[in-house]
Amino acid sequence: MGKLEGRVAIVTGAGRGIGASVAKMMAAEGAKVVVNDLGVDVDGSGGTSGPADEVVEEIRSAGGEAIANGASVADHEAAEALIGTAIETYGKLDVLVNVAGILRDRMVFNLAEEDWDAVINVHLKGTYNTSKFAAIYWRQAREGNYRLINFTSGSGLHGAPGQPNYAAAKMGIVGFTYSCANALGRYGVTSNAISPGAATRMTGTIPQERAAGLGVNQQADEMSPDNVAPSVLYLASEQSGWLNGRVIGAMGYRISLYNNPEPIREILSTGPWDLDTAFEQIERSFKPAILGLAGFGAAPAEKKE
Ligand SMILES: NC(=O)c1ccc[n+]([C@@H]2O[C@H](COP(=O)([O-])OP(=O)(O)OC[C@H]3O[C@@H](n4cnc5c(N)ncnc54)[C@H](O)[C@@H]3O)[C@@H](O)[C@H]2O)c1
Repeated sequence: MGKLEGRVAIVTGAGRGIGASVAKMMAAEGAKVVVNDLGVDVDGSGGTSGPADEVVEEIRSAGGEAIANGASVADHEAAEALIGTAIETYGKLDVLVNVAGILRDRMVFNLAEEDWDAVINVHLKGTYNTSKFAAIYWRQAREGNYRLINFTSGSGLHGAPGQPNYAAAKMGIVGFTYSCANALGRYGVTSNAISPGAATRMTGTIPQERAAGLGVNQQADEMSPDNVAPSVLYLASEQSGWLNGRVIGAMGYRISLYNNPEPIREILSTGPWDLDTAFEQIERSFKPAILGLAGFGAAPAEKKE
């Protein structure tokens, strides 16, 4: 028996990279998989059915079940049709994995409005689009053991300086995942996010030095996207019902559990804050808590002569 025997899954962005690894491993473990991919370049331009068709071909020739779907997750109506495809073809939907993504990297002061919109539309709106229609189905079907698995990134969790659009979208996906975890648990749905690291064409666009700093070595076998897939399969399985509203890191041979944000220090006033007291207490209480933690360097700007 495969670990996902009888499960029906949609994997978006499954024509390449991490999504393709996830779709193939799921099918090998007995899931019926809708392989969604728009077949675009890393920046979201172009579009071809080739990558999704190839993954479906590979799954079928290995004896698995899959169909291709070419919807853009950024398109609200196409996302609805994508959910419908799984239900019409395989009779139900158990697992939605939102992997599809693009990059348009710029420093914030150089970031064009269209590059902000494009990245937010595919990652954040795309995750909402598919999840919304899956949630409508799950709320009505109520059979339980449903799984929503979203993709965040270290870029959002740690704030990559050259990716303000992508970091915002990926952190937005974490907030969306927490909200779904709180809202959909009663319908038997768990919602979690994966923060992956793998050598794909996406990380291939990062300058080698910075990629090394992020722990992504494009050459290392360990960085195969196949090493991200096992964490996704666990979340997709019926065994993971105890795990809800969490971020799981999956890179190379390491799988990690992130903490969820919570206050680490608090100062209180008995009435409206006196400004001098607030200034003094913020520094006295918060500064020592931050020193020694990983953080964001902020140096005073160099003054022009
Ligand atoms: N590779 C990493 O180290 C890494 C790190 C952090 C986060 N991620 C995230 O993991 C996910 C997969 O990344 P990857 O490295 O495999 O990238 P990839 O570029 O290899 O694959 C992404 C796939 O998404 C598809 N896609 C893009 N826009 C789409 C749309 N509108 N509708 C449907 N499909 C669309 C592309 O055609 C492509 O096949 C992304 O969400 C990415 O942001 C990856």
